Amino acid sequence: MLKPVTVKLHFGLEKPVRILHLSDVHFSLADEVDGEDMMKHAAARRNTFFCEAGYPERDPVGFLEDAMEYSKDFDCTVITGDLFDFMSHANGVMAKKVLGGKDYMFCAGNHEFCPKVGTPDSFARKEEKMDEMQSFFRGNMVFESRIVGGVNVIAMDNSYYTWTEEQLDLLKAEVARGLPCLVFAHSPLTCAHLDHNPPHKDLHASEEEVATTRKVTKYIIEEPAIKAVFTGHYHNTLTEQLGDKTGYILGGLFKGIVGEIVID
Ligand SMILES: [Fe+2]
Repeated sequence: MLKPVTVKLHFGLEKPVRILHLSDVHFSLADEVDGEDMMKHAAARRNTFFCEAGYPERDPVGFLEDAMEYSKDFDCTVITGDLFDFMSHANGVMAKKVLGGKDYMFCAGNHEFCPKVGTPDSFARKEEKMDEMQSFFRGNMVFESRIVGGVNVIAMDNSYYTWTEEQLDLLKAEVARGLPCLVFAHSPLTCAHLDHNPPHKDLHASEEEVATTRKVTKYIIEEPAIKAVFTGHYHNTLTEQLGDKTGYILGGLFKGIVGEIVID
């Protein structure tokens, strides 16, 4: 059974808008194409999440199927990454099966670019695998926006703890449209990795990349038109204080947790 967590926001809309937020599904599947070693790895990872979730009646695939069925009651659905626990043929096949033909927005998490859990993160691998990962999902996982009932819903990639100047330009263009904005991303804005303090042990961002990332984070926090930020990554439902706004961190869908954002 899904476990909804509700966030209510008040923008003075003529008609209420309902957004479904999903995060951290952690598909952990492998098949003959992936090989025996990955099949063993996948089984161990499935067991890890089954235990972490407290032995639920549904597996991550089942929870995503339930959530996508539930999404029919919403005006928009945003998935903030870690849909895959690791890259595999079987995870790709299943993502296409469950999400194919469905409407949603998607931005990646750090696990989307992980070939096997425990492998060091790598910017080069992310760049190399970007097109392949995008092929499993609709939309644009680096930056996508849509107006939903007078609210500007924006999904931005920060899966490897960096933002870019291009994303900032696109975000400013969305803000200029004059509607209240909601930003969705994988990593919470107060996440130490996103601040690069301390630096990520595997990902060596340049000084320029770190400065740009901090600039974009500051812009999101300080820009009054951006009303709230929705992320995942921690697998538990929490909030973070971002200046005078709130960051809503959603627990993992592998536990059945879904976020219902109701705006009036
Ligand atoms: Fe995760």
